[in-house]
Amino acid sequence: MSDNSAQKYELVGKSEPMRKIYQLIDKIAGLEVTVLISGESGTGKELVARAIHQKSKRKDGPFIPVNCVAIPDGLLESELFGHEEGAFTGATRKKKGKFELADKGTLFLDEIGDMNIGAQAKLLRIIEEGKFEQVGGEKQIEVDNRIIAATNRDLLGNVKSSQFRDDLYYRLDEVKIHMPPLRERKEDIPILIDYFIGMFNKDFDKKVKGISDTALNYLMKHDWPGNVRELRNVVKRAVALMETDTIWLEHLPVEIKIHTEEVVISNQNLSLEEIEANHIESVLRSTDWNKSKAARILDISRHRLDRKIEKYNLKQEK
Ligand SMILES: Nc1ncnc2c1ncn2[C@@H]1O[C@H](COP(=O)(O)OP(=O)(O)OP(=O)(O)O)[C@@H](O)[C@H]1O
Ligand SMILES: [Mg+2]
Repeated sequence: MSDNSAQKYELVGKSEPMRKIYQLIDKIAGLEVTVLISGESGTGKELVARAIHQKSKRKDGPFIPVNCVAIPDGLLESELFGHEEGAFTGATRKKKGKFELADKGTLFLDEIGDMNIGAQAKLLRIIEEGKFEQVGGEKQIEVDNRIIAATNRDLLGNVKSSQFRDDLYYRLDEVKIHMPPLRERKEDIPILIDYFIGMFNKDFDKKVKGISDTALNYLMKHDWPGNVRELRNVVKRAVALMETDTIWLEHLPVEIKIHTEEVVISNQNLSLEEIEANHIESVLRSTDWNKSKAARILDISRHRLDRKIEKYNLKQEK
């Protein structure tokens, strides 16, 4: 793995929930147990799986991710276990499955809740006996894998509705790691922003230094349904499009800005212009009519602030 790609898999965040995750990773990485990682989309489940692999004695072996949703039902088994030549229409050549490719390493089964029942039975056998047969083959193949699985669904719910084998669930569940959503660890947002700014400065050859207080405020108020992935994309877009060295409010997508503004509007029977005039006036008052400071808080240029003061006929009280 090159230095650059290793950095891209780094887990960032110093909040209490993240510290607990790091401790858990350190504790279990060296043990040959299967791990089930749960959590909403974009919370870093794959990063955790990679971190466990990196800290295990298998670190020099392969880390092979398989996304069980992305592979159509009928093809999943041949993708995982491989197939013999002529095993089915289209199988023109013998093909190694992911289990063989991950020999002496870690197999990461992403979205395991979408694995079909047939594949689940084979998977259980591999976990218990370390061997399996290829699709269309007789010969047993032995492999040495560590399995880490992830899901953003309620897997236990799938067990109850018989879509997921309970015996498999309990084998995968030897260690459970639950990734907290970003809205429950908002103190990590500033450090994640800095980290992503650094990353995308490199990618896009930019020299962005930081984010304005106002823009950061909006990001702190947002709920982040897409978690860290959503934050990463917001920073990526801002850095890619920017000409300045600071991320200002205007560089953020509307979804981020709407939420906070809606609250203000729904509370009062005012037009947007009236709200704008009131807000500018209150910021000017709070800064003692220091216009440079007010412009910074409002995240607009000094020149634009002057034009707004003129437009709304705002005056300092004597
Ligand atoms: N703590 C973190 N520090 C740095 N980057 C992170 C962190 N958490 C997530 N990311 C980044 O966010 C993106 C999503 O992370 P990842 O793919 O691990 O999420 P996931 O939980 O597997 O999501 P999904 O369920 O959608 O597959 C990746 O680009 C990853 O690098
Ligand atoms: Mg993932």
